[in-house]
This record gives sequence, structure tokens and C-alpha cells, in this order.
Amino acid sequence: MIIFKHPKDLRSYIQNGAIDPNSIGFVPTMGALHNGHISLIQTARVENPLVVASIFVNPTQFTDQSDFDKYPSTVEADILKLEKAGCDILFLPSVADIYPNGLTANLQQYNLGHLDTILEGKYRPGHFQGVCQIVHLLLDIISPGKLYLGQKDYQQCLVIKKMISFLNLDTSVIICPTQRESDGLAMSSRNVRLSPIEREKATFLFKMLNYINENSKAGDLEKLLQIVQKQLTEKGFRVEYVAIASQLTLETIQFRDNQLPPVALVAVYINQVRLIDNLILN
Ligand code: PAF
Repeated sequence: MIIFKHPKDLRSYIQNGAIDPNSIGFVPTMGALHNGHISLIQTARVENPLVVASIFVNPTQFTDQSDFDKYPSTVEADILKLEKAGCDILFLPSVADIYPNGLTANLQQYNLGHLDTILEGKYRPGHFQGVCQIVHLLLDIISPGKLYLGQKDYQQCLVIKKMISFLNLDTSVIICPTQRESDGLAMSSRNVRLSPIEREKATFLFKMLNYINENSKAGDLEKLLQIVQKQLTEKGFRVEYVAIASQLTLETIQFRDNQLPPVALVAVYINQVRLIDNLILN
């Protein structure tokens, strides 16, 4: 695996080597890699002659400085995992390489419509602008034919798809299934911050998504969500949102119809650790 630290080195490697963008599968990450990330690399490996991954903890997408400060970093272990999974190129820039003029200079604003202000957007204002800034920049450097994202960050997937569509970029987004631990907890870099008791409690989140799945066919979804919210609160979670929404637009729905199955989404805190998860309903 070749490691590039400077954007212009990676860009000229790709351009001077006359690499066909359609041969590049790209997996952007913030490091602290777990099997969820590795499964994205493995899928990209099967589908593309050249697999590029990035590790960059992007400061502009954090709304909480302490979350940024505490974001786990395991670069040495990540490099070994990427090599083992067959990644060809790792892009590992510094903050100064990516934002040479500072974090706020010349930053483009992206028109994400309601996606910017609902669910994650409501609780993490500015987060998706930061995500778009970095992903746009990475796509500009790497110009991949395919971009691999995990379904766990469902709203992020829709946001990035929207950005790619209005920028008219030649990259297809491949959304890969959420990878789960054997007890159902969605894999996340933040899971390492859970104490053993919190880790045990965290499994309740997926149980609640399944409960929604089993009980969402008939009746008023608002009432179902109230029950779920109450159960999560009683279990000790601080609930930011639990919602059932169109899987295409993320607009919340009140009753199920015969259209495409909706998605249930949840965001909670267990003490200091924020967890999100989602499930496309049957
Ligand atoms: O999902 C993530 O890890 C990040 O939001 C991403 C897509 C790498 C952008 O920083």
C-alpha cells in the first residue's frame, strides 16, 4: 500500500499515471477503523482495480470540540488493517494540508435543503456542511468512479448523494449495509468509549429498532415512537430523536402506505457517548 500525505502528490500520482477514474473505488474514513470500515474496503476491492482509502479526522464537521478532541486515533493499527484488506493507496493528510488557509477560509456553502436541518442536522448544526466540504475536496483530489459509504450514517449517505448530484460529479455512491457486533450493536469508532456497563446497555438501541420494525405495519407511528422514546429514556438513554421517515427524502411519516418501506432512525446519548443507528423497515 502506498501512503500519500500531501494532496498534490496523490493528485499527480493519479493524473500522471493516467489512471481511469472508473477504476478507482474510494473509502473515506476518519480512522479508528473497525470491521464496518474494513467491509467497505473489501467490497471496493472486489469491484475496483484500484482501492483508495483516506484517514482524516475533519475538524469542520464536529459541532462539539470535545467530541473532536476525544475522537479515537489508531493510525498504526489502521494501516495494518488496510494493508490486510487489500487497500492500494492510503491518503493520510494533516489538517494544514487540507485547510492551508485555516478552517474557515474560502469554505463553500452547500444547498442541502431540509437534509441540513432535520435529525442529525438539527442536533449537529453545520455538521453536514463540514462533511460536504471534506468529501468534495477528497473527490476532487481522487476523482473516483465509486464512493463507498456505510448505511449506519444514513443521512450522511443522502447528503453526499445530493451534493454529488448537484455538483454533477462523475462518482456513484455505493451504500453498504451496517456491520453489527454479534449482539446487534452497530459498529462505530465511538463504541470504544463505552464502559462495559454502557456497552451492555447500548445493545438496547438495535432491539428498539427491531421493535419498531415489528410494530410499524399498522396504526399511528407517532404513538409507536412515543412508546420507544419512553422505553429508551427509562433505560437511561438521553434521546435526541427517534423517527420514522421516507428512505428517499427522510421526511417523517405518520402512517405506513404501500410505497417504499420507510427507515427508522435513532440518536441517543449514553452518558457522554453519542450513538446513532437506523433500520430500513420490512
Ligand atoms: O463518516 C465519516 O467517517 C466521515 O463523515 C467522512 C465521510 C469520512 C467525512 O469526514
